[in-house]
Amino acid sequence: MSHSYIQHYRDLLQHLDQQSLRRKLKISESASAPEMVINGRSMLTFCSNDYLGLANHAELTGALIEGAQLYGAGSGASHMISGHNQAHEQLEKKLADTQASFIPQVKALFFSTGYMANLAAITGLCSLGNQNATLRMTIFSEELNHASLIDGVRLASKQNNAQVKVYPHHDLKQLEKLLSEDPNPFKLIVTDAVFSMDGDIAPIDQLLELAEKFNALILIDDAHGFGLLGQQGLGALDMFNIRSNNPNSARIIYMGTLGKAAGLSGAFIAAEENLVEWIMQKGRTYIYTTASPPLVAHGLLKSLELMAQPHHRQQLYNNIQYWQKNLQLKKWQLMPSSTAIQPIVIGSNADALKVAQLLDHQNIWVPAIRPPTVAEGTARLRVTLSATHTESQINQLIEALHAIENDF
Ligand SMILES: Cc1ncc(COP(=O)(O)O)c(C=O)c1O
Repeated sequence: MSHSYIQHYRDLLQHLDQQSLRRKLKISESASAPEMVINGRSMLTFCSNDYLGLANHAELTGALIEGAQLYGAGSGASHMISGHNQAHEQLEKKLADTQASFIPQVKALFFSTGYMANLAAITGLCSLGNQNATLRMTIFSEELNHASLIDGVRLASKQNNAQVKVYPHHDLKQLEKLLSEDPNPFKLIVTDAVFSMDGDIAPIDQLLELAEKFNALILIDDAHGFGLLGQQGLGALDMFNIRSNNPNSARIIYMGTLGKAAGLSGAFIAAEENLVEWIMQKGRTYIYTTASPPLVAHGLLKSLELMAQPHHRQQLYNNIQYWQKNLQLKKWQLMPSSTAIQPIVIGSNADALKVAQLLDHQNIWVPAIRPPTVAEGTARLRVTLSATHTESQINQLIEALHAIENDF
């Protein structure tokens, strides 16, 4: 008889269980907020990327309703066919405006998700023309990049014959060495701006200098920085004071997501207009998928207005300060991070899972992040803070952690 597929996959699942690696879904019955109803239980949550608390903002939900009244429910087709609505077009103009001080001749392209934006950007940039199959990109990829960047790089390696070199976390010396040793004139550096499981920030200014020195393009994934970093909260380029009148900034391809600080969903790339136009022509995750509903784009126009109000950001940064001042860990390690991502490294998978479970018994939800998402032996609680957490809610988590650590 044929192979027992069911038994094979059941064994694999059991193996995941044995390693404490099986992921389980929790069902939320309420809107994204610090207090949510999860599987019928009221819980205090520190796990979303809704850093500014906009996901359940009345003005944003109002804008979505208005968007539905104006444009109906679905887009009906992909952007390249008939799905590109004026709301998408307006949104792209406004998104381009957010990066206009940093990137010259900037144009923005809206995607349904950040995952798709990264795939399109990397494979698009690595499509160097069919006439001459000898042209290929060398990609220099940060070790701790998000899975969507990694997958984009893997795809480009297969599909576009790109060469891939991975450099260690924050190791600019090694990156410089790799860049200097590579004779290929086509080079692309790929990095997260804020590392999603660590919360630390890439040295964008120094990376840009290296990109200039070796004439490379640089793709910056600012999923966790757009709306948060910099004087105006416009993201990593704002924070590092990159200027569009410096011709060097034309080599930047910026990716921002809209499902985190912006509180809704989607993503965009912003770059010099020819680069964006090429990514649009070649990006299969842009071309071969239904455009997201125009009401989402209409809602995102409201998100951008709300993100421009500095008090949301200020409240978040007050909360981060409060948390860092009051959390006193003895055995576990709070990672050095100035962003809303405040991970606590516990160590083994089983221990991290156990701490998360003990918090869960107190109706506090913090996710345990384990390999392969993070390195072996560095399983952690990924605490994320939002502008809408109160000090008393943050205290509740701090007190619970202190007590659990004491008895651990
Ligand atoms: C660094 C980073 N890049 C890209 C993404 C993908 O964005 P999206 O959730 O919009 O697909 C995420 C998170 O999901 C992320 O953390």
